[in-house]
Amino acid sequence: MITQSIETSIRESKINVIYPIYEDADICPKYIEQLGHDVSPYVDKGYGKLSVINTLGRYAHRTITFVGLGKEEDITSAKLREAFAIAFKQAKGRVAFDSKRAVSEKANIGLSAIAYFAAESYALSQYQFTKIGHEPEVNDNGLEIIALEDVSKEIEKALVYANAVIHARDLGNTPSNLMEPQDLAQYAVHLAEENGLAYKVLSNPELKELGAGALLGVNQGSVNEAKLIVVTYNGDNDTPYTALVGKGLTFDSGGYNLKSTGGKLMKYDMCGGANVLAAMEIIAKRKLKANVMCIVPSTENLISGEAYKADDVLTSLSGKTIEITNTDAEGRLILCDAITYAIQLGAKRVIDVATLTGAVATALAGEYTGVFSNNDAFYEQFMKAAKLQDEKAWRLPTDEAFVKLLKDSKVADLVNSVAGSAGASIGACFLEQFVEDGVEWIHLDIAGTADARHDQPRHPKGATGVMARTLAQLFE
Ligand code: BES
Ligand code: ZN
Ligand code: ZN
Repeated sequence: MITQSIETSIRESKINVIYPIYEDADICPKYIEQLGHDVSPYVDKGYGKLSVINTLGRYAHRTITFVGLGKEEDITSAKLREAFAIAFKQAKGRVAFDSKRAVSEKANIGLSAIAYFAAESYALSQYQFTKIGHEPEVNDNGLEIIALEDVSKEIEKALVYANAVIHARDLGNTPSNLMEPQDLAQYAVHLAEENGLAYKVLSNPELKELGAGALLGVNQGSVNEAKLIVVTYNGDNDTPYTALVGKGLTFDSGGYNLKSTGGKLMKYDMCGGANVLAAMEIIAKRKLKANVMCIVPSTENLISGEAYKADDVLTSLSGKTIEITNTDAEGRLILCDAITYAIQLGAKRVIDVATLTGAVATALAGEYTGVFSNNDAFYEQFMKAAKLQDEKAWRLPTDEAFVKLLKDSKVADLVNSVAGSAGASIGACFLEQFVEDGVEWIHLDIAGTADARHDQPRHPKGATGVMARTLAQLFE
C-alpha cells in the first residue's frame, strides 16, 4: 500500500526512513542534532549508493537509509526512478520516503514528479512472480510518501500505470502450458469486462471464414485453436482509431526450422500482446480522450503432422501470398493478418509490438526497443511519450532495398524471411507491406527488452512489461 502523509517531518516517523540526498546537499542539521552525532562521514552520496544509519533509540524509527543521487546537475528523471527503486528494493516492511530532498530546481523536477516517480518505482520494484502452485507471499511492505503538498493524484496515477505493467509481467512470466491462446483470450475478455470495453475473440472457424490464412498457417501445428483478440476503447467522439497490435505467440518452437535452444525463453513470445493489453488497461482506467483498439493474434508455433512447412505458400487476409522460407519467422505472419484486420476495422494509425527478431536484441541488447516508422511526425510523437516514461527506444531503418529482397519469390508475392543481415529491418519491411496508404505506422521490436536476463531495481529477471507505459502515455 502506498499512502501519503502531509507536512509530517521524517523526524516524527515511526517507520524506517528513506532519505534521498544529492552530493552537494547537507543532511538536515536538525536531524543530526537529535541523532547526537554527525553521521555525514558515513553517508555515501554517490549515485545509487545506499547508507543505512541506525538511530540508536534517538528516533521512533530504527533506521534511516540515505540513497545517494550524485551531482544534482547530472540528475534526470530516469536516474531518479532508478535510484528510488534501488532504495525500495532493499526495504523491509513499511518505509517512509522524504520526497522533498529529491526535488531539483536545476533539473526542473518538482515535488509532484518526485512523488510520482517514488510511487511508480516502489510498485515496480516490489514485483515478484508467484511460483506456480504457491500462494502469493504476504508481506507488510508499503510506502508512506512524505510531501508538503497533496500528491494523492500522482500516487493514484502512478499505481494505475504500475499495476498494468505488473499484469503484463504476470502474463509473460506464466509458463506456456498455462498460457495458451485461449488463456490469453480469457484474460483479455476479463480485462474488457472489468473496464466496460467492447471485445470479440475470433477462433479458427471465424478466421477461416475471414481468410486469415497467415495466422492459420502458423497455427496448423498446434492442437489449440488460434485466437484473434479484439478489445475496443471508445473514449472520444469522432477521432479515428489507433490500433495497438501485439504479437501473442504463446510458445515459439521455431516449427520445422526448430530452434536449437528447444524454445527456451519462448514463453515470452506473447509479451507484445500482454503489453498492449496493459496499455489498454491504463487507457481505460484513466478514461483518456482517445479511440483505441487492441488486437492480439495468438497461437503457438509447433511441430506436428499438420504443421506448416518450408516452401508452403499462405494466402494472408490482405490477399497477398507468402512463401514460407523459414517457419521460425512466424511473428510477422500472425501480425500481418492482425494489421490488415485493424485497417479493415477502420484504424488510421497502427502500432505493432512484437518480440520479432533476435537481430534487434543483437543490435540493441536489452537496453533499447527497436523502432520503425513510415511517418516522421508519428515517430516524434512516440519518442516524446517514451522520453516521458523513460523507456529507451531507438529508430532503425526500413528501405526499398530490403523490400526488394522480400519480393524475390517465384511462387508468391512475398517471402517471409531473407537469410543474412539486417534481420530486424527486414522483419519491419515485411510488416510494412500490409500497412495501406494513408495509415501511419510504428513497429516496436521488443525481442531484446520484453524479458530481462538479470534482476534490476525496477524489475526482476523475466517479463518487463516494456512499452505499456509509453503506449498509454501517447494518449494522455
Ligand atoms: N520469437 C522469435 C524472435 C526472438 C528471438 C525473440 C530471440 C526473443 C529472443 C521470432 O519468431 C524468430 O524466431 N525470429 C527469427 C527470424 C528469422 C528466422 C528471419 C530470428 O530472429 O532468428
Ligand atoms: Zn520464431
Ligand atoms: Zn516468435
